[in-house]
Amino acid sequence: MSSSLPQQKVVPSAWTHRHLLDLKRLTSDEIKLLLDTTAMFKEATDGCRRKLSVLSGATIANLFFESSTRTRTSFSLAARRLGADVVDFSAVGSSLSKGESFIDTAKNIEAMGIDAVVVRHQTPGTPHLLSQHLNVGVINAGDGPHEHPTQGLLDIFSIRERLGDLKGITVAMVGDIAHSRTARSNFWGLTKLGAKVIFCGPPTLVSPRWAELGAEVSHDLDAILPRCDCLNLLRIQFERQSTRPFPSVREYAHLYAMNKQRLAGAKKDLLILAPGPINRGVEVTADVADCPQSLILNQVTNGIAVRMAVLWLTCGPRSHSSGKTL
Ligand code: CP
Repeated sequence: MSSSLPQQKVVPSAWTHRHLLDLKRLTSDEIKLLLDTTAMFKEATDGCRRKLSVLSGATIANLFFESSTRTRTSFSLAARRLGADVVDFSAVGSSLSKGESFIDTAKNIEAMGIDAVVVRHQTPGTPHLLSQHLNVGVINAGDGPHEHPTQGLLDIFSIRERLGDLKGITVAMVGDIAHSRTARSNFWGLTKLGAKVIFCGPPTLVSPRWAELGAEVSHDLDAILPRCDCLNLLRIQFERQSTRPFPSVREYAHLYAMNKQRLAGAKKDLLILAPGPINRGVEVTADVADCPQSLILNQVTNGIAVRMAVLWLTCGPRSHSSGKTL
């Protein structure tokens, strides 16, 4: 069944960006607008299930140069639930193998009359580069270890949905901080909204320089756990590492896996998040991943609402032409 948005029919003038490249450059008000718009879409679509028609006639192109389950599916569903058409591009099987450049490939897809591209790429800065070459909106769906803004937003939205105000809460990001775009996007978003962020993991995967930007750095999960309101458990990204950052997965799990024993030493309402994919038994045990405090699948559902908000704010109808920045 199709319906219209109940209140907000045009993109608010407070949103001036054509692209969503990162959370680092957004203001706290812009992040709040994204979160409020997410809440509006979640409600208007009955928990991301119903279809609206606010992007009817628009076409969104998914350009994925790296594997994805959640982000790609979620952007596709979000676009369709707003009434837009979706084009799915995969590097495998494309004319990139015939020597066509990345920019030429993107320009050819743009020439087919699309309204925005959603791009995932292993190279940091790729969405930014595309935004300089295309005349349509560019949305970063994860660029190497740099940022994953919609993942950061959906994590933050999921926490806000449970806890309300984020001011003063403590969120620990645990694991492979060095290679995590999710950690970076969460850091910028959470700190702008007044939360405290702890980066916790082995010294080889957590730089002490994060402290210069205001994060607490820890290598001892058991020591910080009693102070945490939320844990966001990050996968070890072996595919981005040239050498092993710790002696064995077993040792890593012994020191950093969130398990029932550790849960017993945490606040009783501690929230467990993970961006996925999760490796059960490495960063989190199966019983904790599936426990009532786990938001892991709520995050996935909320991801659709976040992406509806992002697509609508970047491509939706405007009451007047707004000054586009970024
Ligand atoms: N969290 C996340 O980005 O998952 P995918 O790699 O499956 O998209």
